[in-house]
Amino acid sequence: MFPKHFRTARAILRPVSEEDALPFFEGHAQDADVTRYLTWRPHSTLQDTRDYVRACVHSQSSCTYAITDPVEGAVMGVFELRNAGATKLEFGYALARPHWGRGIMTDVLTSVADWALSQPSIWRIGAYVDLENTGSIRVMEKAGFESEGVLRRWLIHPNISEHPRDCAVFAKTRQSQNAPADDTGANVYHRRLTIA
Ligand SMILES: CC(C)(COP(=O)(O)OP(=O)(O)OC[C@H]1O[C@@H](n2cnc3c(N)ncnc32)[C@H](O)[C@@H]1OP(=O)(O)O)[C@@H](O)C(=O)NCCC(=O)NCCS
Repeated sequence: MFPKHFRTARAILRPVSEEDALPFFEGHAQDADVTRYLTWRPHSTLQDTRDYVRACVHSQSSCTYAITDPVEGAVMGVFELRNAGATKLEFGYALARPHWGRGIMTDVLTSVADWALSQPSIWRIGAYVDLENTGSIRVMEKAGFESEGVLRRWLIHPNISEHPRDCAVFAKTRQSQNAPADDTGANVYHRRLTIA
């Protein structure tokens, strides 16, 4: 069900292959600044990245893409898109530091979300983000995702703490074609709380 490619002005995403282990390792996977808010520790050997890439290539429930430069084809980062049940997708992403701050991930996430919500079976695409990860929170806001609140003690980010940390949940959803825009369960629930 996952597309073979995403093309944006700033990047091309293609499914990861085992040859991507070296550029992933050198570009982002061994970098403690990149992995600070992720659920895994920086890789200490190329073999760690090879094992990770092999698992991605063989996964049945997700598609992991190499984010590449649209002109030169060089690998800039990674984007993972996961099935989370029949009607929703979740994602994770990371860029090597030299590519930060150029609008790449906003561009990529906007394109992936547009594709996802144009699929008849997909009603929601979302992710969890550490409350201190201001860069990623801004990317999601700029890509049109809404914060749905905070999940307390939700994920362990082992580069910061051994204990689960509070995370924000961000999502973009599709409305029913005939329903008024505010007629979602969440809005009805909030109206009820406000009236009470
Ligand atoms: C988070 C990350 C993907 C951002 O990608 P990016 O391509 O640099 O982001 P963009 O250039 O599209 O920036 C979008 C907005 O976020 C802001 N931003 C990006 N990184 C930021 C940071 N570290 N601190 C504060 N703001 C930041 C940008 O200024 C921009 O906002 P603006 O237009 O209002 O100025 C990148 O920093 C990264 O790979 N981080 C490490 C991995 C990670 O944390 N992944 C997410 C896990 S949930």
